[in-house]
Amino acid sequence: MSALDGKRILVSAGPTFEDIDPVRFIGNRSSGRMGFAIAEAAIARGAQVVLVAGPVHLATPTGAQRIDVRSAAQMHDAVLSALPADIYIGTAAVADFTPRAVAGHKLKKVPGQDTLVLELVKTADILADVATATQRPRLVVGFAAETNDVETYARGKLAAKRIDMIAANRVGIAGCGFESDDNTLDVIWADGQRRLGPESKRVVAEGLLDLIEERISIA
Ligand code: PMT
Repeated sequence: MSALDGKRILVSAGPTFEDIDPVRFIGNRSSGRMGFAIAEAAIARGAQVVLVAGPVHLATPTGAQRIDVRSAAQMHDAVLSALPADIYIGTAAVADFTPRAVAGHKLKKVPGQDTLVLELVKTADILADVATATQRPRLVVGFAAETNDVETYARGKLAAKRIDMIAANRVGIAGCGFESDDNTLDVIWADGQRRLGPESKRVVAEGLLDLIEERISIA
C-alpha cells in the first residue's frame, strides 16, 4: 500500500492572471500539466486530492476536488482555506507582482504619449504562508522555475520559504518546464538531492511522489 493512501494532498497548478483592465492581464506560460500530472498520480496512490487550478485548459483528473481561480490573491485564499492537509505541493506559477489597481475600463492610447507606466505591488507568498500556517501540512513542497543558477536559487527558496523540499525546474529550454509534455526536475531537501527526468510529466510526477513517500516515512 502507498504511504499516500488516504492522505489529503493539496496541489496548486497553472498560472495566475493579474488583471490590468477588463480586457488585459499579466500572465505566464504555465499550462498546468505538471500539477495535474501530480494530482493524477497521487489519486492513483489513494490520496484525496484538492487541486487549486489557475486558468488552464485541462480536464479535471477523475477523483480530484478542483477549485478554479484566476489571480494570485484568489489562489492564496483558496489554498489557505483548503487547509488542513497532510501535504502541500505548490507547482503553480504564481505572479510575484500584480497591478496596484485594476482599471474599470479599457486603457486607451493617449495621443503624444509613447509610454505607459503600470504600478505593480508584491503578491502574498502562498508557499511561505502555508509553511508558517498554524495548520502547517506535514510536508510542504515547492517548485522553483529558473533559467540560470538553478540549484543556487532553489536552495535559497528552500531556506527562505521554510519548506521541506523543492523541485528546481530549469525553464527557457526546449523539452522542459512550461507548456512541454516532458520535464526534468532537480529535487532538493535538507540532506539530499535527486534528479528526475528527462521524462514525461507523469513519470516525473511518480518520481516526485516516490521521494515524498520516502520523506513522509522518515519524518
Ligand atoms: O504548468 P506547466 O506548463 O506544466 O509547467 C510547469 C512549471 C514549470 C510551471 C512548474 O514545474 C514550476 O516550475 N512551477 C513553479 C513556477 C514558479 O513560479 O516558480 P517560482 O520560482 O517563481 O516560485 C517558487 C515557488 O513559490 C513555487 O512553488 C510557487 O508556486 C511559489 N509561489 C511563488 C509566488 C507566490 N506569490 N506564491 C507562491 O506560492
